[in-house]
Amino acid sequence: MTFTSSEFLNPVNTQTWANGRHLVRCLKIIQETRDVRTYCFSMQQPVLFFFKPGQFVTLELEIDGEQVMRSYTISSAPSIPYSFSITVKRVSGGLVSNWLHDNLQEGDLIAVHGPVGQFNCIDYPAEKVLLLSGGVGITPVMSMARWFFNTNSEVDMVFAHSARTPSDIIYRAELDYMSTRIENFKLHLICEQSETGQIWGGYRGFLTREMLQLIAPDFLDREVFCCGPTPYMRAVRQLLQEAGYDFSRYHEESFGATPDEDIAMAEEHAAEALERDDLPQDGYWVTFQDSGKSVQVVDGTTLHEAAASADLNIPKACGMGICGTCRVRVLGGETEMQQNGGISEEEIAEGYVLSCCTSVKGNVAVEY
Ligand SMILES: Cc1cc2nc3c(=O)[nH]c(=O)nc-3n(C[C@H](O)[C@H](O)[C@H](O)COP(=O)(O)OP(=O)(O)OC[C@H]3O[C@@H](n4cnc5c(N)ncnc54)[C@H](O)[C@@H]3O)c2cc1C
Ligand code: FES
Repeated sequence: MTFTSSEFLNPVNTQTWANGRHLVRCLKIIQETRDVRTYCFSMQQPVLFFFKPGQFVTLELEIDGEQVMRSYTISSAPSIPYSFSITVKRVSGGLVSNWLHDNLQEGDLIAVHGPVGQFNCIDYPAEKVLLLSGGVGITPVMSMARWFFNTNSEVDMVFAHSARTPSDIIYRAELDYMSTRIENFKLHLICEQSETGQIWGGYRGFLTREMLQLIAPDFLDREVFCCGPTPYMRAVRQLLQEAGYDFSRYHEESFGATPDEDIAMAEEHAAEALERDDLPQDGYWVTFQDSGKSVQVVDGTTLHEAAASADLNIPKACGMGICGTCRVRVLGGETEMQQNGGISEEEIAEGYVLSCCTSVKGNVAVEY
């Protein structure tokens, strides 16, 4: 379904977007690089897509008869609110990213949850920002840069993006355009390597402290927003730490651990917990009331891990307490939640928790 511009531009009839479950239609697909595509969406009725630049949505899809959820940053900016977009990189062996690339067509309807997320440039206002990204981690900081650019903001931006090769730089033409239009947007591109036949005059290798010193000599005075692969963000944190950076001004978004990392962490956690002799020898019971299953776990196991070991699949997307996908209700028993904004105070008061970041501290009963 398409709209006439008068329907779109009528502010009286146009609603604004709010956190929830929405059916959205894919309007356009843009090939950004060889393995990255942008998907642009709108709703069936005209809606103004307002959100905080840096926030994300969680896609709810049905693949091979199974419901799957994955989170994707909103890569567009709310300054162009008549549609929104996500930018997805193919992950080798990954279910959803490849499904989107291979199956999602212009005109298709899908369900999304959101927008949510604490990693955004509205909640942390600053006069000078340093936007650091690696690979597809560019999406949230691009949304911030687009927002500052489109709103003619005076925020002084330094944008340093790292990519594998020049042809892997996502949004390159737009980044170049923005940096040549205004004074307060300084762009620095860093490529790990270049390929035969490619001209590359930018930085080479990985981001180092010396490079950062050249890119933004005043980086210690800047609010930092960082997103990229785990080793990239670890390196950024280390170099900022060594330089004496004030981490109260540092903000990062992780796109999540791979299942391998999840399993390794859970095993490490369980081994550590078992070593502690102040725990009951046999651990705690977690009972899933609706399915009638119970499982014994050690102190600190998350409710999500407990469910998995009872062969129950609670939907999970971000795995870090931000998207709200894994919400369940605890009917009784002691638990401890370390969430990141994915649940409201009202929900907590009603007994809901986010199972991915809620650990078991005693015998627990769960409504699932
Ligand atoms: C807040 C947030 C924002 C995000 N924003 C973006 C974004 O803007 N763009 C983007 O591209 N991504 C983004 N992501 C990441 C995205 O949500 C997905 O994690 C990503 O697309 C991979 O999903 P997938 O289903 O393709 O891969 P998955 O199927 O989840 O697999 C991921 C990896 O694990 C491996 N794997 C899968 N199952 C197993 C197993 N059982 N054992 C061992 N290995 C296994 C796969 O081979 C693959 O390498 C974001 C994530 C979060 C949390
Ligand atoms: S999976 Fe996102 S909050 Fe748990």
